Amino acid sequence: MHYHDYDDLISNNARWAGEKLEKNPDYFQNISQDQKPPFLYVGCSDSRVPIDTYTQTEPGEIFIHRNIANQVSLTDMNFLSVLEYAVEVLQVRHVVVCGHYACGGVTAAYENSARGLTENWTTPIKDIIRSHRKELEAIPHESDRLDRLVELNVVVQVRHVFQVSAVERLIESGGYYPRIHGWVLDIRRGLIHDLDLPIDQWKEEGVVPSSYQPNFPNGTPGLPKVETR
Ligand code: CO
Repeated sequence: MHYHDYDDLISNNARWAGEKLEKNPDYFQNISQDQKPPFLYVGCSDSRVPIDTYTQTEPGEIFIHRNIANQVSLTDMNFLSVLEYAVEVLQVRHVVVCGHYACGGVTAAYENSARGLTENWTTPIKDIIRSHRKELEAIPHESDRLDRLVELNVVVQVRHVFQVSAVERLIESGGYYPRIHGWVLDIRRGLIHDLDLPIDQWKEEGVVPSSYQPNFPNGTPGLPKVETR
């Protein structure tokens, strides 16, 4: 792994900005006007998962919240304010909770090796391990078990997104609401896995309002069709 020097960051930035301006002299002027990102991304702080690199997206496209092990905590004011702003003001079309294989936070919870505040932060993952003990113990190889735990962690965090009152209210309102997705970044292959979510089961449990449709035939309800470029 080659690491840049501190000074490289500044010189890379100047070169990048110059290249952008060469292609479009109004690039930064346009960006500075407004943001209307179609996506909210909730991911892990891990340095190996910069989602705009993986998705080849530009500034202005993805509103981002990251924390260790991509937790959706219903008592975290930081996360809750990001989510509420994203759905109520920005009206993002999609909310993506994204984990990744080889996640240090998930592994630390599994091995009980985190210390200090990280231990505290990843404690909810231990509950996921307890409630899926049978499924996890049936997986013979530890690396596969950890991969599965990463996926389960994402599914549980997506479930939490549905429990945020701002999201629930929007879905029940019958107008605009965002579609909610769970991803895992397979950092060994550089690929996104779009996970199957137990939406029907969550509807039966009353976690997801029955009116929620994970797939709309004609774009997000309550919003004009997306402009594609
Ligand atoms: Co991680």
